[in-house]
Amino acid sequence: MTELRNIVVLTGAGVSAESGIDTFRGGGGQGMGIWEKHRVEDVATPEAFARDPDLVLRFYDMRRAAIQEKQPNHAHAALAKLDAQWPGELLIVTQNVDDLHERAGARRLLHMHGEHLNAWCTTCDARSRWTAPLIHRPPCPACGDAALRPDVVWFGEMPYEMERIYAALRQADLFVSIGTSGAVYPAAGFVRDAGALGVSTLELNLERSQGSQWFTETRLGAATALVPAWVDQVLGL
Ligand code: NAD
Ligand code: APR
Repeated sequence: MTELRNIVVLTGAGVSAESGIDTFRGGGGQGMGIWEKHRVEDVATPEAFARDPDLVLRFYDMRRAAIQEKQPNHAHAALAKLDAQWPGELLIVTQNVDDLHERAGARRLLHMHGEHLNAWCTTCDARSRWTAPLIHRPPCPACGDAALRPDVVWFGEMPYEMERIYAALRQADLFVSIGTSGAVYPAAGFVRDAGALGVSTLELNLERSQGSQWFTETRLGAATALVPAWVDQVLGL
């Protein structure tokens, strides 16, 4: 294997599962996935927001309140340790909208699906840090309009900073996917993009995913067990 300098990590809902945050498609005995309790077309599309904004805002207010009670787990802590000690390039791309990576101390982090603690004004396009409920239509801090929506990427919308992600993959020596089912694109395609560039690919997941066949190596187990062990291996500890 070429000398390991530049790493891209992708995380999904599975990295936060052991913190008590529901995943989307169940899996791994985490109870029912979010999409078994709520329909995507009711709460996670622009059409849903146009049709019934109260339903969408209540869904995200509920998720924001649930997430704020949770704590980072050993997998988040291990990735923060890697971030602090890794001398080469590192980019942690997360599909998650929770802030557990940040709270664990990660800095070289990119939220491709947005952040549940940000609100986006549909009038002036400003994004604001937001922890309070949106259901009461609070005024936008920038323009004052009662036009805030969750700053979360919905089905059918473009994820954030895709060019930055592909640039990091082009420079990577290793791509590591943690806790994602490989169900949603473009994140689900990163393993093949990396492989086509000759980048080694490693999957750490509780069970085989829709993308497992494309990885150089798949390790099955809980993120809180696999991620600290992998980080210590990479840091040579
Ligand atoms: P997609 O069509 O790529 O998603 C396909 C997968 O998403 C399906 O295999 C299924 O697992 C799930 N899915 C799609 N529609 C569903 C439904 N009605 N019920 C249950 N599961 C469903 O998604 P897309 O529309 O191309 O998404 C575009 C972008 O939006 C993607 O980049 C995706 O990452 C992003 N996104 C973000 C969120 C979020 O909650 N932050 C949700 C979905 C998609
Ligand atoms: N440790 C490791 N992996 C786990 C754990 C755990 N403790 N618990 C669950 N998993 C795995 C599951 O086996 C599953 O493969 O995490 C994955 C979670 O998959 P999803 O629920 O589909 O979540 P994710 O892959 O992040 O979904 C992608 O879909 O709804 C959209 O935008 C939303 O970002 C989300 C995207």
